[in-house]
Amino acid sequence: MIRAEAITKLFHDKKRGEIVAVNKLSFACKSGMILGVLGLNGAGKTTALRILATLLKPSSGTAFINNIDVVKYPDKAKAQIGFISSDTGLYRRLTPREIVGYFGELYGISRQESAIRLKEYSEILGMDDFLDTKVDKLSTGQKQKVSITRTMLHNPPILIMDEPTAGLDIVASAHIVELIRRAKSQNRAIIFSTHIMHEAQRLCDEILIIHNGMATRNGTIEKLRMETGIEDLDQIFLDSVGDLD
Ligand SMILES: Nc1ncnc2c1ncn2[C@@H]1O[C@H](COP(=O)(O)OP(=O)(O)O)[C@@H](O)[C@H]1O
Ligand SMILES: [Mg+2]
Repeated sequence: MIRAEAITKLFHDKKRGEIVAVNKLSFACKSGMILGVLGLNGAGKTTALRILATLLKPSSGTAFINNIDVVKYPDKAKAQIGFISSDTGLYRRLTPREIVGYFGELYGISRQESAIRLKEYSEILGMDDFLDTKVDKLSTGQKQKVSITRTMLHNPPILIMDEPTAGLDIVASAHIVELIRRAKSQNRAIIFSTHIMHEAQRLCDEILIIHNGMATRNGTIEKLRMETGIEDLDQIFLDSVGDLD
């Protein structure tokens, strides 16, 4: 279970002055649930997700990962989390198989077990053709699949994914969507941000709409429909972030 309690993040920028990237944001995501985070560019999605993943300290507030306080016990919390963004770095000169072996060792997973998990992910994500090709020569989508495999290798119960399908073609995206579905069926808690409304609509149990660092809507699509009187998630989103205010 993931729980954010009034997380706030201020950045001090020389040119722009003080920026409130995330403003008293609270939300929760239970195990076996997918929470979709929607927001315009600059809304605060990445900042919020990085705070959950212990990669960034909040200015105030905190979050709990399976009841572990991310501010007080970042290392303990981190052990429960797989964090995936669209630009996770990989060693360019290694092959996917080598990378998985290397990270497996780091996580204390045996060689045999690493190989089994690699095979599993390779089947779901369609990686068989390039497991022995150096990362240097892989496409964006292929690299993303390797990054995801790497961050999920230790079977983390919590997945935090920042635009995991950004810039990927429809087939690569579908593979990743399939992986997210599978993670849900394994009772993990999954938070992912996206710009793709139909992806969110099909996949998410609940939606969180962030605007200017604040939650403008949060709940099941059904609940958002009731609140807004609007059927379509696209339109609900526009209504929640529009220039109406
Ligand atoms: N390291 C930083 N220093 C200064 N401002 C930042 C930094 N990171 C993010 N911001 C600002 O915080 C706001 C939220 O950014 P971000 O969380 O990346 O939004 P999103 O992921 O929704 O596009 C933006 O105004 C962005 O410019
Ligand atoms: Mg972002």
